[in-house]
Amino acid sequence: MNRVAVIGVGVTKFGELWDYSFSDLFVEAGSAAIIDAGIDGKDIGSIYVGNMSGGRFVNQEHIASLIADHAGLNPVPATRIEAACASGGLAVRQGVMAVASGMHDVVVVGGAEKMTDITTEKVTQILVTAADQEWEAFLGMTFPGLYGMIARRHMHEFGTTREQLAEVAVKNHANAKNNPTAQFRFDVSVEKVLNSTMVADPLTLLDCSPITDGAACIILATEEKAGEFCDSPIYITGAGQSTSTIALHDRLQMTVSDATINASKMAYKMAGKTPGDIDVAEVHDCFTIAELIGIEGLDFCDIGSGGRFTEEGCTAIGGEIPVNTSGGLKAKGHPVGATGVAQVVEIAYQLRGEAGKRQVDGAEVGLTHNVGGSGGTAAVHILER
Ligand code: COA
Repeated sequence: MNRVAVIGVGVTKFGELWDYSFSDLFVEAGSAAIIDAGIDGKDIGSIYVGNMSGGRFVNQEHIASLIADHAGLNPVPATRIEAACASGGLAVRQGVMAVASGMHDVVVVGGAEKMTDITTEKVTQILVTAADQEWEAFLGMTFPGLYGMIARRHMHEFGTTREQLAEVAVKNHANAKNNPTAQFRFDVSVEKVLNSTMVADPLTLLDCSPITDGAACIILATEEKAGEFCDSPIYITGAGQSTSTIALHDRLQMTVSDATINASKMAYKMAGKTPGDIDVAEVHDCFTIAELIGIEGLDFCDIGSGGRFTEEGCTAIGGEIPVNTSGGLKAKGHPVGATGVAQVVEIAYQLRGEAGKRQVDGAEVGLTHNVGGSGGTAAVHILER
């Protein structure tokens, strides 16, 4: 199996981007990554793109071919990958497999979503297509609703407090202030989170990731090819993916993400690493409770202790394991199909020592964790410099 290097990264600004079309987004992120890598169109063997619902958000299907076309990369083969909010993470995995297997020497992995052209009600309906239609969506359930139930149950089972949930938002907003491409670059306090508009009890507006336009892109290459373009590539040394029940009520324990546990075990084993070896992580925090069950499933702390671990500052920059230095989905923004790729972009910046004021000193090993739905899919990657 070939070693897989990340030789270039690019990301757009995240937010409500009225002046960008869907194509503008991925062309900007893709061009930035190609320039960063120093490659040429003729070097690219294939394109993989994460996109959850172009057909419903902007009425555009046939995304992969559209991307190759608008990026001026025809006739390169292009494939779209869909796994709800984990579409980007799974696209990364497809790119890793293509390079590791020897099928291609250089591939482009992108993710893009344009979500703000329609109303919040419509976005909510589209997002919930990733839940069980018969038993969840049909009965009026939404993603804030599902994660609200997980949060209540976590509080009941483990004594997690409302304030501990809010600490996730406080930390991630503080990190986003130092990320020039983040959607929300302002501080929030625990009090402000608690007093913001109720969305789905106990989650308020400031416990939720926002609705976002954005795209991200990485260039992957074999070690040999990487040497031609890049002095200090980052390597993807572990890749894990797992599934769980799509409906929350079918899960053995709704407060435990078994897909996260299984995907991370696979990635740790492949990389020959333990949770203690990870210096920095991007964890799927679509809601504050999601970061808690994420860090528990990744084994950064014991099941049920994520609230205390966060409150004690262990996941802050300078703590035991800095989590979501980019601002996370909560404050950097969550253009669903792009998120898993944007997480790899942030870890690449960290391992290259290019994360500016949010840099984790001496970061050598990083991890990304991308979740689809309420945990029906999880993808974990481990990166090393
Ligand atoms: N965090 C912080 N501020 C937010 C925010 C968020 N998640 N969402 C919106 N805001 C801000 C807006 O910037 C705006 O501020 P302004 O008045 O200063 O301009 C204000 O709150 C109102 O914004 P609006 O767009 O009207 O909010 P909304 O009520 O339409 O949507 C949510 C808010 C929480 C319902 C929406 O962001 C949401 O559904 N988030 C979850 C997305 C999701 O489920 N993703 C998939 C996860 S699996």
